[in-house]
Amino acid sequence: MKLTILGGGGFRVPLVYGALLGDRAEGRVTEVVLHDLDDSRLYAVARVLDEQAAGIPDAPTVTATTDLDEALRGADFIFSAIRVGGLQGRADDERVALAEGVLGQETVGAGGIAYGLRTVPVAVDIARRVARLAPDAWLINFTNPAGLVTEAMSRHLGDRVIGICDSPVGLGRRIARVLGANPQDAWIDYVGLNHLGWVRGLRVAGRDELPRLLADPDLLGSFEEGKLFGVDWLRSLGAIPNEYLHYYYFNREAVRAYQQAEKTRGAFLREQQAHFYEEMRDPGAVALAAWDRTRAEREATYMSENRETAGAGERDADDLSGGYEKVALALMRAIARDERTTLILNVRNQGTLSALDADAVIEVPCLVDANGAHPVAVDPLPGHATGLVCAVKAVEREVLAAAESGSWATAVKAFALHPLVDSVNVARRLVEGYTEVHPGLAYLRR
Ligand code: G6P
Ligand code: MN
Repeated sequence: MKLTILGGGGFRVPLVYGALLGDRAEGRVTEVVLHDLDDSRLYAVARVLDEQAAGIPDAPTVTATTDLDEALRGADFIFSAIRVGGLQGRADDERVALAEGVLGQETVGAGGIAYGLRTVPVAVDIARRVARLAPDAWLINFTNPAGLVTEAMSRHLGDRVIGICDSPVGLGRRIARVLGANPQDAWIDYVGLNHLGWVRGLRVAGRDELPRLLADPDLLGSFEEGKLFGVDWLRSLGAIPNEYLHYYYFNREAVRAYQQAEKTRGAFLREQQAHFYEEMRDPGAVALAAWDRTRAEREATYMSENRETAGAGERDADDLSGGYEKVALALMRAIARDERTTLILNVRNQGTLSALDADAVIEVPCLVDANGAHPVAVDPLPGHATGLVCAVKAVEREVLAAAESGSWATAVKAFALHPLVDSVNVARRLVEGYTEVHPGLAYLRR
């Protein structure tokens, strides 16, 4: 079985390969093809994988190429984990928005729109090539903003593209743990868009345990989301929001924290990772040790106090082990071996949320088997959540329209309609500012 990884020179690829090395079951991946635009990044990551595989019998073979079509041909699964504009682009997304006093986060608000505008055209090109060269392959999209990018690709690949995120499963795991339940036994009632969803219940053996958590201030205040949102607000909501909703519910504080930070998250990661790729230019360097050191530094920041700045909230070490690669591997396994399982994924709505049309990609628990991922029926969202979901989906649709037409005015509309952009004039200046710094937005025409 052949797995192609787009963005194969990316820093997280060794996590994926590590997960593959742990898979001994029949029908596992035997061949990995790394694709990247940047030769030196491919070389660096391939060196790490080579050291990871040392001494492991039947480790999946690894090849690397900068030829996209060659990478796609014959693939059974494709992981798309690209970052258009790199971490420099992420840092610029943050900086330009902050200069206007609005949020520039990777996936939320103005930053997410800018990132979406430069990623969608590239993702669509990939989807078209996959449809032509590997029509039977399954594409698992890691690329952020994951819901929007998955929807763009689904217009060409239908339900053969499935988007993933580690945040819903991480949230469900933290809630289960605080309730003393085994996360494996819990059914998480979660729905929304990517990075915009709510846990409304957590059932263990048919019983909803969430009311017990909401009724107990000590328990509620004892885990990451309780501290992030505050006990009172969680009780008012009657649900536990995805951590990314902090950027909506506490937008002022989040923007201020970003503004006061010595370095934004993107700037921090850019420097840290540049250092790793630099080290890899030395043929004598021990690649795995260098990678692991950088990984540990990055993960330490997840446990620091301030997610908005250099860190990403207070997660304990266990939470870091259930990341994207595990979700991706579980999904790939369920499809390849027809092992029926349930995972929270980004797929087309198909009637699940009645306020959205059938083709809108949402994040929802899905039943997965050899036929793909099928959203399960969920309770409707309350009005305030439906309102937010519809507003953000409308913004995503403007991003898709701007990427297709190249219209400057449509790009302005996308920013202006976002609940976290507070003036049409700000939206206009954001488009000016972003087109100045991002070559990937040169396609926008007035
Ligand atoms: C979580 C989110 C991802 C996001 C990542 C950022 O895992 O689900 O979508 O990309 O956090 O982490 P980073 O270390 O890049 O700030
Ligand atoms: Mn995510």
